[in-house]
Amino acid sequence: MSQQPLIEITDIGRKYVIGAETIHALKSVTLNINKGEFVALMGPSGSGKSTLMNILGCLDTPTRGEYILNGINVSDMTDDELAEVRNKEIGFVFQTFNLLPRSTSLDNVALPLVYAGYSKSKRSEMAQKVLESVGLGNRVDHKPNELSGGQRQRVAVARALINNPSIILADEPTGNLDTKTSVEIMALLEEIHSNGNTIILVTHEEDIAQHAHRIVRMRDGLIEDDYLNNDIKSVSPRLAALREKGSDFENI
Ligand SMILES: Nc1ncnc2c1ncn2[C@@H]1O[C@H](COP(=O)(O)OP(=O)(O)O)[C@@H](O)[C@H]1O
Ligand SMILES: [Mg+2]
Repeated sequence: MSQQPLIEITDIGRKYVIGAETIHALKSVTLNINKGEFVALMGPSGSGKSTLMNILGCLDTPTRGEYILNGINVSDMTDDELAEVRNKEIGFVFQTFNLLPRSTSLDNVALPLVYAGYSKSKRSEMAQKVLESVGLGNRVDHKPNELSGGQRQRVAVARALINNPSIILADEPTGNLDTKTSVEIMALLEEIHSNGNTIILVTHEEDIAQHAHRIVRMRDGLIEDDYLNNDIKSVSPRLAALREKGSDFENI
């Protein structure tokens, strides 16, 4: 696979000043992620994972250092400029799904397209397609409270995919799901990764992190460890069968 840099972060820091106290949530983080990687970001509570994810997702800017996303220097952008980059480049999946409760699956998934300027019929057509791709073609008219937790997270994943973003950022996507449903969501993320998407996943569960191809561990606002996972656990039946046959995964 060609090594195209997607994320280039150099010596970034993020501090919060509260009264007389300064909290260095990120001290100095340097990290490069290429297109097509599947990275798990781990570390104890308070180690800076969410702060780093917020910066990666252009929801926040570092107080020091440089961030180049897909060739664009986003370190010093205004909030409006960041919002535009975010809409185009990033798909978010959260622990708590963050769906609009009174909207159908179709409308939740189609929402990001409103800002992209598509017509209503085009938006519905695109949302229908993505919902089918995550196995929810028969749940398009359901509202979140008419869906199971796993189905809600599938809707959220479909919404993250709809703009064809360069990166999927998932902050504890299985944190609110039981083990069986977590496995289904990880299988879905594996499929999405095998289609060429870049995924960065925050988790504190070793089991979940084992699905990723690279593991980055944080502690006290620093990267403590960063290594390729030699023991990838695959739960997607399709991918597991391919693996059994000894297919070259990077070229599926
Ligand atoms: N908005 C904020 N204001 C002040 N301190 C914050 C804020 N967000 C995070 N922090 C602090 O920064 C550190 C890192 O937090 P966070 O990135 O949320 O860690 P994690 O996601 O790994 O649990 C913690 O000490 C936290 O209390
Ligand atoms: Mg966090």
